[in-house]
Amino acid sequence: IRAGAVGSFLGVAGAAYTRHLQRIAVEQSRLHIPLLFAHDVIHGYRTIFPVPLAEAASWDTAAVERSARIAAVEATAAGLQWTFAPMVDIARDPRWGRIVEGAGEDPYLGAAMARARVRGFQGTDLSAANTLMATAKHFAAYGAAVGGRDYAAADLSPQTLYAVYLPPFRAAVEAGVGSVMASFNEVNGVPMHANGALIGGVLREAWGWDGVLVSDWNGIAELIPHGVAANPADAAVLAIHAGVDVDMVSTSYRAALPAAVRDGRVSMRAIDDAVRRVLRAKYRLGLFEDPYRYSDTVRERVQTLTPEHRAAARAMARESMVLLRNEHGLLPLSKSLSTIAVIGALAADTASVLGPWAAAGRAADAVCVLDGIRRAVSPATRVRYARGAEVEGSDTSGFAEAVRAAREADVVVLVLGERSDMSGEASSRASIQLPGVQRELAQRVVAAGKPVVALLMSGRPLATPWLAAHVPAILETWFLGTEMGPAVADILFGDYAPSGKLPVTVPRATGQVPIYYAHKPTGRPPSDSNRYTTKYLDVPWTPLYPFGYGLSYTTFAYAPPRLSRSTMRATDTLVVQVDVRNTGSRAGDEVVQLYVRDDVASVTRPVEELRGFRRVTLAPGETKTISFTLRADDLAFYDRNMQRVVEPGTFTVLVGGSSADVQAAHFTVTDGARLGPALPVRAGSAP
Ligand code: NOJ
Repeated sequence: IRAGAVGSFLGVAGAAYTRHLQRIAVEQSRLHIPLLFAHDVIHGYRTIFPVPLAEAASWDTAAVERSARIAAVEATAAGLQWTFAPMVDIARDPRWGRIVEGAGEDPYLGAAMARARVRGFQGTDLSAANTLMATAKHFAAYGAAVGGRDYAAADLSPQTLYAVYLPPFRAAVEAGVGSVMASFNEVNGVPMHANGALIGGVLREAWGWDGVLVSDWNGIAELIPHGVAANPADAAVLAIHAGVDVDMVSTSYRAALPAAVRDGRVSMRAIDDAVRRVLRAKYRLGLFEDPYRYSDTVRERVQTLTPEHRAAARAMARESMVLLRNEHGLLPLSKSLSTIAVIGALAADTASVLGPWAAAGRAADAVCVLDGIRRAVSPATRVRYARGAEVEGSDTSGFAEAVRAAREADVVVLVLGERSDMSGEASSRASIQLPGVQRELAQRVVAAGKPVVALLMSGRPLATPWLAAHVPAILETWFLGTEMGPAVADILFGDYAPSGKLPVTVPRATGQVPIYYAHKPTGRPPSDSNRYTTKYLDVPWTPLYPFGYGLSYTTFAYAPPRLSRSTMRATDTLVVQVDVRNTGSRAGDEVVQLYVRDDVASVTRPVEELRGFRRVTLAPGETKTISFTLRADDLAFYDRNMQRVVEPGTFTVLVGGSSADVQAAHFTVTDGARLGPALPVRAGSAP
């Protein structure tokens, strides 16, 4: 630091220690430039919130913004100014372990979550002592990895890149995100750390973004195994020309750029541009005004893991669970049953509840599902725990005890799924079934004859058709953070009615992947009566649970949607109204969803695309009218020439409580429109 060789740190935190290092930089280095302290603050710093995929299942942008805000308050109190979040990668392949870090499969929901998280981390003033510079990552199409294998190539059409993978980045940029991280993968033959067309061309030129582009871990040096650079010097030259400002870890810049400038391979201007962007970020963070602003030991003590933060984490966790099945109203359970059997290794796992990116989170602070249940029930209720089986492996020796516990109980809570280290980076799985002998355990426990509630803990959708057919109540709980246990108990015992909706399609079998609701039509739509249509011989073509699906303890009824007009010009707006009624006997939240289909166009269009959603609370019997406004932007698509257009013709509006449970209305666009300039057709890699 004294020699001026360090500009930023990753993984160094603590108010006192960062203050100490900052003092060396500011007082003893030649240029006195303050350091940046960065960390992966993904879903909480010390108070851990639900994993991002779970938070997306809340469809509650205000709550997600609050979650990121609290993470920023705690992280900045520990001396940090920069987080490598939000991850805004669209993921349509649940084999990919990093699906847990994003908002799921849909670009519209993904963009809404990206905006919320950037706002939460950065607040309205980046120079405030409690705001963190956010990083939209991983640019771009990292989630399109072939085979769902982490770090693998993405090979996709320009239309898919622009319409599916880039919108959440655009939303983050429009929300003012301070930095963007390049992704490990290549896009259509060009590794992202060398992809000047997308970094310089799209992000900087087309979108006018002036923030810091940081490499991913060793990403610059990895241009060598990618096969586009022969040595570290070539890699550094490619990356600086692509617009990568900060070299995370690889040291290629430090080792090679001075010589590259002397040789004329890299201009001083390219270096100055990168340096200017980093300095600008340090100015925006207020570090030149007060380099110690973020390193405040008092704030660190009083603003970390507070009761308010824990309460917010519990509220977020409640909203993030998705009730998948509830036959005969098995849930909610009474708090005064005489015996509840809790079965499964994950029920007592306080590490897994934190998810795979827990920053400064500690298992010792977290409440597991078993303890959450124990705390919630009446003193007279006996909670009997049996491990049953580990998450992985073939050991069935715990089955007998689990069956005994089930037989002696009034109800069984069976916790199944994956440990948190089975999701996240480098945690792809070729099968998305329940690992180990957990399905066999479920079969034995169900056969004991008592009512069974299955909780699915996972960072990805799991294909569990047997459970869906045989277990009367199923709750997707994901990894919910420090307050997981109490939040799960809130749902199990009915203190809160489930309200989450799936941000991702749940397949029946791994072989259906990729399966997503906004798929293209085909010339041979599936039909049971015609073999020669698009489907499988061995499993139905439909998902186990569709995107947007989720039950509550009450029920909702939708009236047919009403449109403000039946024809519109592309410059007009169209208002869609729908009456939603709570038809059950208790209050609940519903996420009202609006989808659009362009019926006939010059290129094929998805069967439906999300274009609006609203979370609404309804008392029993209450009806609310929800309004959505559609504009040209909601109807537009990239045509054969990469021109974003609205074409005249008929459109279908679909409104309902999931992508597969909607009612339709129709309107006609009378004239077309072009939105913005056409992109060159080789837009797969160039703007
Ligand atoms: C590699 C991951 O891909 C990235 O998301 C993360 O921010 C960096 N490591 C730093 O930990």
